[in-house]
Amino acid sequence: MVIPRRSRSGAAQRSAAAPSAPAGPVAPRATFSLSEEETFELGRAFGRGIRGGEIVLLQGDLGLGKTVFARGVAAALGIAPEDVSSPSFTLVQEYTGGRIPMFHVDLYRIDAAEEIGTLGLEEIVSAGAVVVVEWGEKLPPYLRRDAVTVRFHDVGEGSRRIEILPTSGAPSRASGDA
Ligand SMILES: Nc1ncnc2c1ncn2[C@@H]1O[C@H](COP(=O)(O)OP(=O)(O)OP(=O)(O)O)[C@@H](O)[C@H]1O
Ligand SMILES: [Mg+2]
Repeated sequence: MVIPRRSRSGAAQRSAAAPSAPAGPVAPRATFSLSEEETFELGRAFGRGIRGGEIVLLQGDLGLGKTVFARGVAAALGIAPEDVSSPSFTLVQEYTGGRIPMFHVDLYRIDAAEEIGTLGLEEIVSAGAVVVVEWGEKLPPYLRRDAVTVRFHDVGEGSRRIEILPTSGAPSRASGDA
């Protein structure tokens, strides 16, 4: 698969750094990333909140930074980020050696929901791993229900708007459920 190369202009605006406080994967928020490095750091901040047993859906068009974000999550877990690549031909890749096992899934080439059911993602999650799914919108609803969603929007010139939503498809809420 050809991953479109994107320009990395916007460096002049680098002062808009990744947010500090890693509030964990369930705090709804949205921010801008002006570079690959910022998206990586957003993934790392997000990954610090991972406890195991989460499904994380990465949604957004080709080349928007889903894999870059997944590498940041891996780094937060103590997994070598350079090992994480777009698993377009292997569907599921497992990374151990970190504080929590991470499974990286790419559903881009999958069409049938039944095929997804055979991947055993539920078992992986119940075993305490984190499952990070590119093209996660293709997961059947029963797997998306309790997932955290990260949405990538192209806002031009190498910039991305990245939204973190506590459950798939849920609108961003200003306050928690408590
Ligand atoms: N703000 C940004 N955040 C992330 N990546 C960026 C940004 N600006 C430019 N890029 C470039 O965009 C590309 C993102 O590639 P990546 O493989 O992470 O995309 P993807 O969403 O996983 O695509 P695919 O759907 O094909 O798997 C990289 O080449 C990266 O350098
Ligand atoms: Mg990818």
